[in-house]
Amino acid sequence: MTEPTVRPVILAAENLIKDFRVSQRGRVLTSRRNFRAVDDVTLTVREAETVGLVGESGSGKSTTARMVGRLVDVTAGRVRLGDLDVTTATGPALREFRRSVQFVFQDPYSSLNPRQNVEELVSAPLRYQGISTLAGSVTRVKELMERVGLDPDHSRRYPAQFSGGQAQRIGIARAIACNPKMIICDEPVSALDVSVQAQVLRLLSDLQDDFGFSYLFISHDLAVVRQVAQRVCVMQDGKIVEEGERDQIFAEPRHDYTRTLLAAVPTIPAEWERERRTREGSDDRQPS
Ligand SMILES: Nc1ncnc2c1ncn2[C@@H]1O[C@H](COP(=O)(O)OP(=O)(O)OP(=O)(O)O)[C@@H](O)[C@H]1O
Ligand SMILES: [Mg+2]
Repeated sequence: MTEPTVRPVILAAENLIKDFRVSQRGRVLTSRRNFRAVDDVTLTVREAETVGLVGESGSGKSTTARMVGRLVDVTAGRVRLGDLDVTTATGPALREFRRSVQFVFQDPYSSLNPRQNVEELVSAPLRYQGISTLAGSVTRVKELMERVGLDPDHSRRYPAQFSGGQAQRIGIARAIACNPKMIICDEPVSALDVSVQAQVLRLLSDLQDDFGFSYLFISHDLAVVRQVAQRVCVMQDGKIVEEGERDQIFAEPRHDYTRTLLAAVPTIPAEWERERRTREGSDDRQPS
């Protein structure tokens, strides 16, 4: 067996904390108190690596992702992308961060503006970054559509004219338009049928092979995470309670909570397992 190669860290989140002010209704007065949704989370993502973040609903996965991608501010802690302190970045540095780190969300229909066609949706990051105009990005959009398995002739169609899986491909095309370093996938296949899930996971993994993207991949579904992640972080009540190589987490979970999560995993479809083995067989050929 070849030694696993350790790739350079591209993103580091250090001691992230997020408090929300929440209302608490008493018998007479409504008071406000702090609720700690993310409690001292530290994680790293390496080049061309997929880190799975799992945990049950409300454990703080999305809030962590949103701090990492600077969609919300941290209460405390720091995020670094290479030399950049993401937490305090402004101006051109923040713009460059927005290019380098993209998101794919769970529900493509609600994350894509229904009044924009594919051309407008996919070219949006190119326009925001000042890389291209709408007219100038027509060829690039068609190229991206082809790359994610969509018919480039459908570039003037609207999200509602696509199936869920196809709509998620639009979201993926948009995420890769500006050649990001990292893509934060927040439950990217949770709204899709199992057979469509497998196809979209396959696409994400092919794109990683071709372009070297890193993924922070969030899911409440361990079967999905097992399919894509090399490393797994398990979250419970705002904390990472266990972290390790995928095979270690699945074969010898150390934390009780991980065992509970694993016990709740439905059987992994046989075709998924076959596909994962095939893919990993081919991975062995490319030490880096
Ligand atoms: N804006 C907010 N204001 C107050 N509380 C919030 C806010 N956003 C999230 N929370 C709370 O923080 C906790 C973590 O939420 P988060 O969305 O990060 O969980 P999650 O692990 O992504 O869950 P799910 O699997 O359901 O998506 C939850 O208890 C949630 O209710
Ligand atoms: Mg979430």
